Amino acid sequence: MELGIKGKNVLVVGASKGIGRAIALAFAEEGCNVVALARSMQLLEELKKEALQKGAASFEYESVDIMECDAVAFAQMLIDKYGEFEIVIQNVGGSLVSRNHLADSSDWSHALRFNALASIDMNSVFLPIMIKKGWGRVIHISSISAQTLRGNPLYASSKAFLNAYVTTVSRQLASSGVLLTSVMPGAVAFKGSYWDNFTVTDPKRCEDYLGHHQAIGRFGTCEEIADVVLFMASERSSFMPAVNIGADGGSM
Ligand SMILES: NC(=O)c1ccc[n+]([C@@H]2O[C@H](COP(=O)([O-])OP(=O)(O)OC[C@H]3O[C@@H](n4cnc5c(N)ncnc54)[C@H](OP(=O)(O)O)[C@@H]3O)[C@@H](O)[C@H]2O)c1
Repeated sequence: MELGIKGKNVLVVGASKGIGRAIALAFAEEGCNVVALARSMQLLEELKKEALQKGAASFEYESVDIMECDAVAFAQMLIDKYGEFEIVIQNVGGSLVSRNHLADSSDWSHALRFNALASIDMNSVFLPIMIKKGWGRVIHISSISAQTLRGNPLYASSKAFLNAYVTTVSRQLASSGVLLTSVMPGAVAFKGSYWDNFTVTDPKRCEDYLGHHQAIGRFGTCEEIADVVLFMASERSSFMPAVNIGADGGSM
């Protein structure tokens, strides 16, 4: 299938490891111009070498902590430096924030900023440009927890908010040619990941989780998520605004 994204300008926020890394490499293989963001300069430098080998038209990166910077100003700086983005992947997030459901709003605010608000700040710069051009794709990496509402309440609630943002805002944009969507992974394991650690330290927990919650009976791979993201970033997804798509091994 021809995706039609060769040569497009792509930003991957949270690209140094795991799912974001696989996504950056998938766009590299499609011959895109990739700009990658994360905190770890060393991992980004390693990623750059691999991305260029795989065929990226160009690959640039910025080391940044999106929780510590003015995300609106940073997004504007990226455009001034690298040009306008046609495809933006918002991958930063995670459950490793407070798990205290009785915490006050400072913990909840942190979880919300990490999983949604920092990327919404950036989108406030990127989306108007895409709308003006009449084409664009912004894809958030959400989580199937947004639908199951299981696990860490702060995480699940933040991702549920993210899904609602995606659906409601994308409907407003639908006729403009700009698609705002999300992909909701189930449990994905990769070297050094949350689930990968449990396969060694607590295999019983993994077996139990997979047996009860992931019908396919195994963890997903980063590449399986990246493939869905590539499709959503392409022209081929043109009739799919406002969706939150599960890639979750049959969540149950
Ligand atoms: N893995 C799963 O099972 C799973 C399941 C469902 C949903 N998800 C979602 O998928 C996304 C990626 O998950 P993952 O497991 O691949 O996570 P990860 O291994 O923690 O990777 C997150 C990426 O974001 C970057 N990042 C984290 N905090 C940042 C910050 N403050 N500023 C800039 N960059 C930052 C990290 O790089 P640096 O550390 O170098 O900054 C890394 O490149 C998350 O939104 C997560 O909620 C994952």
